[in-house]
This record gives sequence, C-alpha cells and structure tokens, in this order.
Amino acid sequence: MQTLETARLRLRPWEPGDAGFVLDLYSRWDVQRFIGSTPRVMVDPAEATERINAWRTMDHPVHGVWAVEVKEAGTLAGTLLLKSIPASGPVPLQPSGDTEIGWHFHPGSWGRGYATEAAAAVLAYAFGHGLPAVVAVTNPANAASQRVCARIGLAHQGRTDRYYNATCELFGLQASGAERP
Ligand SMILES: CC(C)(COP(=O)(O)OP(=O)(O)OC[C@H]1O[C@@H](n2cnc3c(N)ncnc32)[C@H](O)[C@@H]1OP(=O)(O)O)[C@@H](O)C(=O)NCCC(=O)NCCS
Repeated sequence: MQTLETARLRLRPWEPGDAGFVLDLYSRWDVQRFIGSTPRVMVDPAEATERINAWRTMDHPVHGVWAVEVKEAGTLAGTLLLKSIPASGPVPLQPSGDTEIGWHFHPGSWGRGYATEAAAAVLAYAFGHGLPAVVAVTNPANAASQRVCARIGLAHQGRTDRYYNATCELFGLQASGAERP
C-alpha cells in the first residue's frame, strides 16, 4: 500500500506496534457511537491486533486503510479508510460494488483539520488510481463527519438504506467531479 504525504500528515500502512493506539482509539464511545448499525467499543487488545492484521492484508489494487500520523509530532491521529462498502441485505452482508471513504480520528486530534486533510489526499489518490466514484455514509446525527464530507467536495445525496442495513446520510462524488444521479 502506498504511503501518502500531505502538508502536515503521513498516511502509512498500519504496523503491529500500533495496536496500543488502535485500542485507545476504538475503545472510546465518542469515536464508536456513530460507527456501524450496533456501535460498541473495543475492549480486547487482541481485537486491535486482529484489526491491524486485516488492514495490512487487504487484497485490492487501490483500496487501503491508512494510519494517519502527524509528521511534526510523530504521533498517530487516526484512521483513513478506502474500502468496499457492504450492501444492505441478509447477514453476512455482501459487497455492493461501491467504494467507501471513511475516517476515524482520536478525540485528541479533533478540530485541527486533520481528517479533512487526510481524506482529501485519499480521495485524490482514489481518483488518480482509476476508481470511478467514491461514497461516504454517516449516521444522520454525525454532523462532524458530514462537515468533512462537504469540505472534501462530496455531494450530499439525501438519506439511504442502501448500505450496512442502516439509514445513513449519503455523500458521493464521481471521478469526473460530477455528482452522482
Ligand atoms: C468525524 C471526525 C473525523 C471529524 O473530525 P474533525 O476534527 O471535526 O474534522 P477535521 O479534521 O476536518 O477538523 C475540522 C475542524 O478543525 C478546524 N481546523 C483547525 N485547523 C484547521 C486546518 N488547518 N484546516 C481545516 N480545518 C481546521 C476547523 O475549523 C474545523 O472545525 P469545525 O468543525 O468546528 O468547523 C471526528 O469527529 C471523528 O473521528 N469522529 C469519530 C469517528 C466517526 O464518527 N467517524 C465518521 C464515521 S461516518
């Protein structure tokens, strides 16, 4: 997976030594409350290691899950995801064929524009590597994430039940920059 650089951030592959940060990040209700249809916090360190292993072994030419590092401090700030989004339907959910961009940041790094900066870089990377379109979905109450969508230029397309067996606000952009129909 390609490392990406922005003015303030390095987006790099996750490493086994990052498990402590992953547990700290995903054990917080503030981080998890809007993620998934039945949010829950991570409690088991083994789960953090499993998560990193899954991210490191994603088998796709363009998709990836990056660790976002603040270059100046050398500290981790969060996660940036570019991955297949599952369609609503019987469990286990099946791939929809669409690509989702997502962001999970540590509360200690909120309010600095890091999520927007990292997401803009991954969006440019996605289109630069041939993806035709990208979507983002948020819990309808997740205003902070909706602002990130708007800041990176994703168009709001209303509410949808199309993904994750959940009602979400849908945002999207096509590679041409045109809004999806
Ligand atoms: C969603 C989430 C990533 C948003 O984080 P965030 O810090 O609000 O987003 P940004 O990194 O874009 O920061 C933007 C804020 O930083 C401020 N900021 C400071 N310096 C900045 C800079 N150089 N550039 C841009 N914004 C800057 C902006 O004013 C903005 O504040 P505002 O939202 O009050 O207007 C964060 O709330 C989060 O991780 N939540 C938990 C996980 C989650 O819900 N993920 C989304 C699931 S759909």
